[in-house]
Amino acid sequence: MTVKVDHLGPLEQTALLTEYARALDSRAADPILADPLSDEVVSKIDFDFTRLGVTPSVMRLVALRAKMLDERIRRFVLDNPHSTVVDLGAGLNSMIHRVDPPPTVNWYSVDLPAVIDVREALLPEHRCSRVVAASLTEPGWADPIPADRPTMVVADGLVAFLTEPSIIAIVRGAVGHFPEGILAFNDYGPVSRLNRIAGRIATRGANSPHQQWNFAGFKDARYPETWDARLRLAEEASVMHRPETAAFPLSLRLASRLSRRIPSIARKARILQYRY
Ligand SMILES: C[S@@+](CC[C@H](N)C(=O)[O-])C[C@H]1O[C@@H](n2cnc3c(N)ncnc32)[C@H](O)[C@@H]1O
Repeated sequence: MTVKVDHLGPLEQTALLTEYARALDSRAADPILADPLSDEVVSKIDFDFTRLGVTPSVMRLVALRAKMLDERIRRFVLDNPHSTVVDLGAGLNSMIHRVDPPPTVNWYSVDLPAVIDVREALLPEHRCSRVVAASLTEPGWADPIPADRPTMVVADGLVAFLTEPSIIAIVRGAVGHFPEGILAFNDYGPVSRLNRIAGRIATRGANSPHQQWNFAGFKDARYPETWDARLRLAEEASVMHRPETAAFPLSLRLASRLSRRIPSIARKARILQYRY
């Protein structure tokens, strides 16, 4: 039995691209993330994934940033066995199954209602799993989530699609609701208006995330500290500096080598963590 996704809007369909990228990585002879569940999920969706134009570079970048976020969540859960993990814009990501936290952890996947329906239809159950079907841009999305434990708030692939005022409201909503914890997300450094327009033109008529790109990003990893006074930068890590870049396609491997000397390249694929 397959699940239809034609009813999903362009923003919701971005969840297909990242899941497909992880599925392709899992099929590779030398996977970086090695998430066979992503391939199982993709095989149950009635959709022409080749339309998404996922290049080998995108596949590897998506897989490696997921691996880096997984590692950080595992560490948080190890340090805080009685805690909450909140995955913002969770899409179809099987992060909870990869991390497989102990039963003392409550894990909330938040996404738009239509995406949560597809997620519930496709992902196997996990004893820690709860979902919140809500828009993060509406106040009150965090209300169903108990605020009684240290909380790791994660966003993989979300911020690029939001405006900065929306991101600030979401971050303040999280940091104001949960008592203490970590906020972790991936970003792409500064993305100029010209680059965003060029991306839209280059992918015109295609089902590309460039069409949904809204956020101009930032250079200084401390910049999000201005979003909420409680945020303190805890880590800035570049995907480009990881040993797994050996499995990248040639051009990206060269970029990764250059990124040691050219920080603007390293910033193009970051994992950022903030304490609050
Ligand atoms: C690129 S996908 C990433 C999905 C998932 N994190 C992953 O790694 O596969 C972006 C996700 O953000 C979700 N999203 C975008 N805007 C949202 C909003 N206002 N409220 C909740 N989810 C949103 C989309 O529905 C989509 O699932």
